[in-house]
Formats: sequence, C-alpha cells, structure tokens
Amino acid sequence: MGVVAREPVVASFEGASADEIVAWAAGRFGERLALACSFGAEDMVLVDILARVAPAAHVFVLDTGRLHQATYDLMQRARERYPLEFRTYFPRTASVEELIRVKGPNSFYESVDNRKECCHIRKVEPLGRALAGLDAWMTGLRRAQSVTRTALDIVESDEAHGGIVKINPLAEWPEERVWEYIRANNVPYHRLHDQGYPSIGCEPCTRPVLPGQDLRSGRWWWENPEGKECGLHLTA
Ligand code: ADX
Ligand code: SF4
Repeated sequence: MGVVAREPVVASFEGASADEIVAWAAGRFGERLALACSFGAEDMVLVDILARVAPAAHVFVLDTGRLHQATYDLMQRARERYPLEFRTYFPRTASVEELIRVKGPNSFYESVDNRKECCHIRKVEPLGRALAGLDAWMTGLRRAQSVTRTALDIVESDEAHGGIVKINPLAEWPEERVWEYIRANNVPYHRLHDQGYPSIGCEPCTRPVLPGQDLRSGRWWWENPEGKECGLHLTA
C-alpha cells in the first residue's frame, strides 16, 4: 500500500475546499476509500459530498449495539437518498457476551478503564475489520470539536492502523459551516441535533448539552475532557 509522505500532503491541503479534498482522495484511492459514519452532522455533510464526487467509495458504520433509534432512522433515510453502499460492522458476539457476563450491561459508568474496554470491544476492534483492505479512510473530525482535536491534520498517516491514510476533510470547518452546508443542500440530519445533542454516539453515553457548553461535554459526561476519546482516533 502506498503511504502518502506526511509533510507535503498535509501542507498542500490547508485552505482547500472539502470537495477538492474528497475529489483528490477519490482519484487516488477509488474503491479502496471509505467514510466512517456515525450519522452526526459532519458525517452527513461528507455522505453528501461523497455521493457527488466519490461514488465508488463506500460508507461504513460501527454499530455498537447501543446506538439511538434515531441513528437507525437516519441510516434508512440516507440509504434511500444516496446511491452509495452503506456497510455495518458489529462487535464480535463472543466479546460482548463475555463483557456482559462478567461486568453487566452498564460497566462503562463504573470506571474509565471499563468505559474504554466497552469502546474497544464495540468500536475499536470492529474498526480494524472495517479498515482491512482499504488504502484510506475519511472521518468527520473537526479541530474545533474538542481539546483533544486542535492539532488535527487534514491528511495524515494513521499509524495506529498500519499507516493507512486518514483524511479529515472538515478539519478546518467551524460548526456554523457544517449547518450552512446542511441547510443549503437540504441534507437529512439526525433529529437529536434539534434536541440539544451536538455530538451523536451511543445512547447510554450521550446526553444533551446546554447552549454555550462544550460540544462534546454530553459525551461520557462523567469523565475529564482531556481523556474523552473512544480509541477510534488515537495517534500511535
Ligand atoms: S468518537 O470517537 O468520540 O466516537 P465522534 O463521535 O466525535 O468520535 O466522531 C468522530 C468521527 O469518528 C465521526 O465523524 C466518524 O467519522 C467516526 N465515527 C464515530 N463513531 C462512529 C461509528 N459508530 N461508526 C463509524 N464511524 C464513527
Ligand atoms: Fe460502550 Fe459507551 Fe463506548 Fe458505546 S460509547 S462503546 S456504550 S462505552
């Protein structure tokens, strides 16, 4: 697999439009490119862009088994609207059965280690399978989302996943721009966004935030902001 040289590629994409970045990725990686989609607002922008400029790429969702019903409803709408392939990856049955046998269904509230264990079983391990056979993956990560994401590159080599290319076309976008795109292009979006949820994750680990509060403060709200990543986006 060809790994993109990090510095020149990163430098050349600052200031490029999301369409240009996705078009470059489509031209370079073709069918070996996919979007990781949680069906949050950023990901729906990218689904819309993908359908226009990268139709050979597919979309994958990591179905943790603990998603909101509203997420499945939006998945259905997206499948009907966009001529893209949507794939779902589930956690390993035996791992989930063992976790619940030993620690019960809500172990994530008990400690950060337990929470990371659940995220590992339900998201990180399935992500490895979703990325197998790909040369590049795309995410809806933005720098402004959290203290853990301020140094995000637009294109990077994902050392945590064997040096596969990781593309974050919306890295530079402020939140308002996401919503401008959604309104201008009539993109379907997650109904929980209208109920105070800026960030969509698993149902038991996500709650609404008050106006002005940090965008990700409703995720794992019982933990410190500095450690709030689920393991999908670790730098090696
Ligand atoms: S998370 O790592 O804390 O869950 P967040 O919800 O902000 O991340 O999402 C960041 C990006 O990770 C999304 O834009 C999407 O690309 C990817 N992502 C998050 N959750 C999923 C999921 N369940 N399935 C597929 N991709 C996901
Ligand atoms: Fe488990 Fe919560 Fe992580 Fe979902 S967000 S995988 S329910 S700990």
